[in-house]
Amino acid sequence: TAILLSDYTPFSHLIDHVTLHFTLHPLQTRVSARLSLRPNPAAVQGQDLRLDGENLSLLSLALNGKPLAHAPDETGLTIPAADLPNGPFTLETEVEISPQTNTSLDGLYMSNGMYCTQCEAQGFRKITFYPDRPDVMARFDVTMDTDLPTQLSNGNPTGPGAWHDPWPKPAYLFALVAGDLVAHTDHFTTLSGRRVTLNIYTRAGDAHKCAYAMDSLIRSMRWDEQVYGREYDLDIFNIVAVDDFNMGAMENKGLNIFNSKLVLATPDTATDDDYARIEAVIAHEYFHNWTGNRITCRDWFQLCLKEGLTVYRDQQFSGDMRSAPVKRIEDVLALRARQFREDGGPLAHAVRPDSYVEINNFYTATIYEKGAEVIGMLKTLVGDAAYADALNLYFTRHDGHAATIEDWLQVFTDATGHDLTQFKHWYTQAGTPHLTLTDDFKNGTYTLYIKQNNPTTPGQPHKDPKVIPIALGLLSTSGAEVLPTTILTLTQAEHSFEFPNLTAKPIPSALRGFSAPVVLHQTQSNTDRAILLAHDTDAFNKCEAGRALAKSALTDHILHQTPTPHDWLAAITAVTRETTLDPAFRALTLRLPSDDDIAQTLHASGHIPDPAAIHAARRTLQTDLANHLKPHLPSLIAAHQTPGDFSPSAIAAGHRAFRLGLLSLMARIDTAPATHAYQNAKSMTEQLGALAILLDNGMGQPELAQFHAQWQNDRLVMDKWFGLQISMAAPDHAAHITKFLTEHADFDWKNPNRFRAVIASLAANHAGFHHASGQGYALLADWLIKLDPVNPQTAARMSTAFETWPRYDQTRQTLIRNELSRIRQTPNLSRNLGEMLDRMLGA
Ligand code: ARG
Ligand code: ZN
Repeated sequence: TAILLSDYTPFSHLIDHVTLHFTLHPLQTRVSARLSLRPNPAAVQGQDLRLDGENLSLLSLALNGKPLAHAPDETGLTIPAADLPNGPFTLETEVEISPQTNTSLDGLYMSNGMYCTQCEAQGFRKITFYPDRPDVMARFDVTMDTDLPTQLSNGNPTGPGAWHDPWPKPAYLFALVAGDLVAHTDHFTTLSGRRVTLNIYTRAGDAHKCAYAMDSLIRSMRWDEQVYGREYDLDIFNIVAVDDFNMGAMENKGLNIFNSKLVLATPDTATDDDYARIEAVIAHEYFHNWTGNRITCRDWFQLCLKEGLTVYRDQQFSGDMRSAPVKRIEDVLALRARQFREDGGPLAHAVRPDSYVEINNFYTATIYEKGAEVIGMLKTLVGDAAYADALNLYFTRHDGHAATIEDWLQVFTDATGHDLTQFKHWYTQAGTPHLTLTDDFKNGTYTLYIKQNNPTTPGQPHKDPKVIPIALGLLSTSGAEVLPTTILTLTQAEHSFEFPNLTAKPIPSALRGFSAPVVLHQTQSNTDRAILLAHDTDAFNKCEAGRALAKSALTDHILHQTPTPHDWLAAITAVTRETTLDPAFRALTLRLPSDDDIAQTLHASGHIPDPAAIHAARRTLQTDLANHLKPHLPSLIAAHQTPGDFSPSAIAAGHRAFRLGLLSLMARIDTAPATHAYQNAKSMTEQLGALAILLDNGMGQPELAQFHAQWQNDRLVMDKWFGLQISMAAPDHAAHITKFLTEHADFDWKNPNRFRAVIASLAANHAGFHHASGQGYALLADWLIKLDPVNPQTAARMSTAFETWPRYDQTRQTLIRNELSRIRQTPNLSRNLGEMLDRMLGA
């Protein structure tokens, strides 16, 4: 049954203090809890006390020291009002749980002999009876009994295995770790002079892989002081790397727990993309200390309050650490690939939803990435200085509170004077706005007409026009900028904007920097696109012009068998050879839109995408581009070798990315340079990149075997070995190779990283997954059925591979819907997967 935002009421009681003691045992862990409670003056008085609790065996229960006999039900424990004092009281419980058999990786579980926890969103109720909701904030003291040497929890240490957290927090931020771990240690002195001990804990063999994560942490701490004025607030900050983890990482107070793939890196085991992800996620979790922990969410409908803002902050941070324009281009490509895809299908939901069945299904690209875009638009609308004022007010006004989106918007209104009533639609109404641009030029005046259309989404037939900031520049046909970036603000369904005193019709450069998360429809000539690609002062739109050229070449080829246009080849060649441009930027421009992106684009313009035709068209264009660039490839490839010692810097990574892009084009003509690059690789980026190129061209079997022999004992690298074979598989072979690899001795399907490496790689192989045989669909469905009872969160997440079904032809739609129904009929399906299937089936 659905939980509704409109049903929110404050909890009956406040908790002043929590004392927890753990006697750790793989199958019989005992958890004693003492809660100091009192009636909540802001709630209806005289209510029962309802505590959440799942899979707990209750051993004892006492109120103010007197035993009580109430028995728990399936989801918790109720102490009737008649048994509750009117004033403060103490409730003591003892329960037994079994971490070793907890395969859901939610609550307290074991990973390779280590005890660890994941409590967001509702895992704490699998540890002890408690009001497991974010608006109940308490101070925690934790102790534990175990022979394992490393014993960690939140806050500051008070003795061996004993921790005190001075900051009131909701239960979802609780964490406990016990294991035989080693620490990579450093220190950080805060702005006001607090010396903080920093530890990254790993298994013994991984201790040498923490340097980059530690460096990222220190830079994050400094940055948050400098840019947001936020200081760290404990004596110690611990990070633990865990091999079995459902998501990326978790911001538990003072004890962040990470998927090991987002901590561990050495040049020979991690790619440049891994390094960038590690930096971003370390920052993200650290930034949560203020945006999430000090100020948390009133209820889970407000999830974007902490996630959208924290993603926005980590994106700013990465932009400052790296190339801001390149970071923006990458973020937008990811937004379109994941969030636009979600927003355009049956799983579309508002940035602040108003109902859910299973909250873990809402840790989505919409809440996170669109949530961040909404903040970026707010900043554009109010200006940088006003944004800083609003954030300062937010931190002072709501520190220590569990806040709402209304609180957040009120802060902006109070700090800046802006009325944000209409802007709030971005939070409450789902779907990606589509903008249509037309223009004319008369008597020296250029007029731009913009229409916005907000398509309906499940459960939201009516949409209001949104406030949309459009960053616009105008270029002359010779490429000079005749109007620098100007913000046009749309508030209605239709607008026109006039630009007088021009000598000739200009070329619009609209939506610079991707100033709003919208789909832009404009009729642009290839000549104008080529001018923008060559001359736009806005890096995002410069790159976008190249993509627009490539997309029109691809769609024309798919729909009308048009040969590869010379103007695209010439324009891309010019950018590729332009040595004043950042190699990372050139690498992005060289990369053709992905198969899935082309499918999304075709669907958005009213066509039914044919996965096989898309795949073939993309390869044809690549080969044509390779042949066109051929005279320049050898010298460019040689020029972008990175000499000397490995550096993880964005600049060095940009050279590697560009060189691999060139090598992959070269391989359409001759694979020898890629073979050579594999043999001489000095980093995982180069080794994996060269292997990918070889596999993509039907080669690379000896290299694949060599790679396995070299890395078979490194599980994170082996994830790459599994994944690459599937993502590079030809459409006809993808399902077969996937099936074969699921039978491999090292396919540990209960490990989420390994499961994703195989199954998500199939889903990401567009033409392979959507193969007309339906084998890809059936294989995914089989695995979801198998995984669901073991790990419902990961199964539900993976089911989103099916969310694009309405794009495709009748045959594929039927194949997919049949698989969805087949999964739905499985007995005892989890609430997680059940909700996803119902939404995808439109039930
Ligand atoms: N708050 C975490 C983050 O964004 C994500 C945790 C989500 N976990 C979950 N099981 N839903 O960094
Ligand atoms: Zn987060």
